[in-house]
Amino acid sequence: MLIRYKKSFKKIAMGLLSYMPREKELRTLRETIEGYEADASRQLFLWRVDEDVVGVIGVAVNEAKAEILHIAVNPSFRDEGIGKEMIAAVTKLFSDRTVVSSESTNRFFKKCMEESR
Ligand SMILES: CC(C)(COP(=O)(O)OP(=O)(O)OC[C@H]1O[C@@H](n2cnc3c(N)ncnc32)[C@H](O)[C@@H]1OP(=O)(O)O)[C@@H](O)C(=O)NCCC(=O)NCCS
Repeated sequence: MLIRYKKSFKKIAMGLLSYMPREKELRTLRETIEGYEADASRQLFLWRVDEDVVGVIGVAVNEAKAEILHIAVNPSFRDEGIGKEMIAAVTKLFSDRTVVSSESTNRFFKKCMEESR
């Protein structure tokens, strides 16, 4: 289930975001999470399975499009379809906009689009 980020999820969200190759440095990671907290056009979501928060997906939204900037799943929960479910949930949430990937999420997004065709 997709849930909206709030500050009480900060540590778990940072932990999940750190699986992104470009978010390895603590300074970058802090800037990223602060960007999601401060910038109204950036929206961060978590994926919950029962009581566990196991995934994160972040988007930059404007009137025309929603660009997926970050996506990561806890390694213990990978290859169970969660990444694809998160893409599908965000695509549904922003169905009034064009959902696109960024350079950092392009490979997985493309795979999902090819499979959903
Ligand atoms: C990418 C990621 C979110 C996928 O999450 P997941 O829940 O394991 O994904 P799903 O179970 O829905 O899908 C698994 C499929 O995606 C593939 N996949 C995993 N990472 C991928 C990537 N970076 N690019 C393309 N395909 C990828 C798997 O090989 C698997 O393929 P299959 O269905 O043909 O067996 C996860 O691997 C992750 O957190 N990676 C580290 C963060 C990252 O690099 N994010 C940016 C990705 S471009």
